[in-house]
Amino acid sequence: MLTLSWTSEAPAAVGDQLLAVVVRDVPNPDAFDGAFGKPVREAFTAARFGGKPGDTFSFTRTVGDVLERVVLVGVGDLADPAAMRTLGHDLVRLGHAAGVSRLAVDLRSFAGIGAWGDATAAVRTGNLFAQGCELGGYAYERFVAEDKRSRRSVREVVVVADSTAPAEGSGRGQIIASSIARARDLVNGPAGLVTPTHLAETAKEIVASLQGDHDVQLTVLDRDACAARQMGCFLGVAQGSDEPPKFIHLSYKPKAASKGRVCLIGKGVTFDSGGYSIKPTDGMLDMKMDMAGAAAVIAAFEGAVRLGVPWEVHSIVAATENMVSGHAYRLGDILTASNGRTVEINNTDAEGRLTLADAMVYASKLEPTMMLDFATLTGACMVALGPKIAGVMSKDDRLADDWIAAAGRVGEAMWRLPLPDDLKEQLKSKIADMKNTGERYGGAITAGLFLSEFTEGCRWLHCDIAGPAMASKPYGVTTAGGSGVPVATILEFLG
Ligand code: BES
Ligand code: MN
Ligand code: ZN
Repeated sequence: MLTLSWTSEAPAAVGDQLLAVVVRDVPNPDAFDGAFGKPVREAFTAARFGGKPGDTFSFTRTVGDVLERVVLVGVGDLADPAAMRTLGHDLVRLGHAAGVSRLAVDLRSFAGIGAWGDATAAVRTGNLFAQGCELGGYAYERFVAEDKRSRRSVREVVVVADSTAPAEGSGRGQIIASSIARARDLVNGPAGLVTPTHLAETAKEIVASLQGDHDVQLTVLDRDACAARQMGCFLGVAQGSDEPPKFIHLSYKPKAASKGRVCLIGKGVTFDSGGYSIKPTDGMLDMKMDMAGAAAVIAAFEGAVRLGVPWEVHSIVAATENMVSGHAYRLGDILTASNGRTVEINNTDAEGRLTLADAMVYASKLEPTMMLDFATLTGACMVALGPKIAGVMSKDDRLADDWIAAAGRVGEAMWRLPLPDDLKEQLKSKIADMKNTGERYGGAITAGLFLSEFTEGCRWLHCDIAGPAMASKPYGVTTAGGSGVPVATILEFLG
């Protein structure tokens, strides 16, 4: 973790420091010449530094016997939450690339962080900036030779601004970033490493690290225990794999009065081959990421406890692989979920909804105030919304609004899709209560409608993260690979 501080006075020039001066436009000539001298201004003018987003101009100067490195960084409007995270991220990366241990950030050209909103907004600004700073050092390098790993020299970030109110959000942002990093590590880990057992072990480590200070518990059900609970849909998917399935249930009770009980359910398919409805190579290539929902709810659990959120939180994952073998489930099989509903399998690649069905029925028995599920559920959701936007579905307008507002405050892109009941037609089966898939068009929605049959009357929201869970190239605070979406929104939502 970095040491982050906010101050209203510029720190003295020291070697081993990069000073990043953040500007929205070309800096005011008089003030600039006073601070850095006219030759620098002439040089950046010649280099056509215009203070536009993406513009940078680097120089060094000597202050006494210290050689100080300075970079001018152009940015757009920092009122956008995503921009504040990205700024922290990009600046720390510049610092790491420069090999300095301290990064000083001059934000004074942004007239008044106080002017960006009220005290809460200022704290959130500090939170988002800290998230970005921490994530600027993220890389998945477990399998990269030591001498090839990226350099992370920056230990300390000092922000010079005319308000130090954002400092109060730093600690929160750092906790959130470490949860995001944990989720990313789980998504980036190959499926041979991140098995259902590995997810359960991770949950165990998290609980061990929190126990003592917090009221946390872990239950892990193995195949037999799931069978005793009649989780026929989950076990139907799991039966083709030699990796033992694990049903993981983490729970936390806050010390102070609780606002209610929230169940966070994550799709935990640690590898999705498609089963007998097998995927072609291209479609299977990234399917180690099919547990991104599980990664998010496990990692967000840790963050929620460390932040001491005022909700009772349950993170629930039915973890399994979806494989092909002599004992895998077949097309035409009929599975019985733990609420007694029967499902005719017309596509073994629509496995996520089957695992979630039993997880939702389990969650409903906890009588939650609400349950939210996160799943890399459908390619159709990516067709609808592209690779960066999550699809949100709920019959509860207030819940959907609250959730999407929370996403907006932290800069994670989400968009609501409808759940029209008439499309349930597509899931009708002649020999069972329903089929597991409908037609090609509207695939994200029929998946949502399938899940809606397993809410058991609870308030429920479904978030399809097939797109944003993993990035094919970097953007914002996201490196290529697992993104950690929607950990930040979950933690913002739980407050
Ligand atoms: N895990 C996939 C969905 C997915 C696809 C996530 C691409 C991320 C990227 C899911 O299990 C799946 O295979 N869904 C099918 C559903 C279909 C058979 C109705 C799909 O999207 O093709
Ligand atoms: Mn699938
Ligand atoms: Zn899947």
